[in-house]
Amino acid sequence: MSNHFKKTFVVAICGATGVLLGIRLLKYLLQNPFRIYMIISNAGCSVLKHETGFDGGDIKRFLELQNGIQNSDAALFLCDNNDYFVSPASGSFRHDGMAVVPCSMKTLGSIAHGINDNLISRCADVTLKEKRPLVLVTRETPLNLVHIRNMEQACCAGALIMPPVLPLYGSSDSLIEITDAFIGRVLDHLDVEHSLYEEWGR
Ligand SMILES: Cc1cc2nc3c(=O)[nH]c(=O)nc-3n(C[C@H](O)[C@H](O)[C@H](O)COP(=O)(O)O)c2cc1C
Repeated sequence: MSNHFKKTFVVAICGATGVLLGIRLLKYLLQNPFRIYMIISNAGCSVLKHETGFDGGDIKRFLELQNGIQNSDAALFLCDNNDYFVSPASGSFRHDGMAVVPCSMKTLGSIAHGINDNLISRCADVTLKEKRPLVLVTRETPLNLVHIRNMEQACCAGALIMPPVLPLYGSSDSLIEITDAFIGRVLDHLDVEHSLYEEWGR
């Protein structure tokens, strides 16, 4: 890639509970010289307001305050979920993977059935067709058969289905530490180095 960023990722936050997961993923990605294209659905914005201190104002500023851009060579680009003119909407734009964190059942359904009705589902569709890593942190419980079949369909198309099952085998009782250990597993699948949990057997 002809730029100074070591890697490029697309990160989306949907309107499922657990938006903290997306915020923490962003935090750890921005510790690297990475370029991040961030997309937040309308429902994602509503859940952000509900679950975090986001006041509905400048969302990029909010994310930067939450995470900082800890690496001077990192960059965060916030994309409008209705704008198909941005780079990751096209397969000709090479990136290193996409994560939808959290992924609602509605967006899972769109991805599973190729319904590109917003930028998130379009970018996911492009990521699959270009055979790049696509991680879906699907958040719902319990699951009905539609959810399960959509997960199967997305999985068969090449997505990695990673429900936020919290790794509870560590010694921590801190929600942030348990969340971060899960985010470490997401980073593994995006091939990003981290020290968020200790590898089993080390
Ligand atoms: C506070 C709140 C929490 C929600 N949690 C979930 C959830 O965990 N999983 C889910 O699939 N939908 C959840 N929803 C419903 C989605 O927001 C809704 O289906 C929406 O259409 C998803 O749109 P999006 O995928 O474009 O973000 C929640 C809605 C609200 C208001």
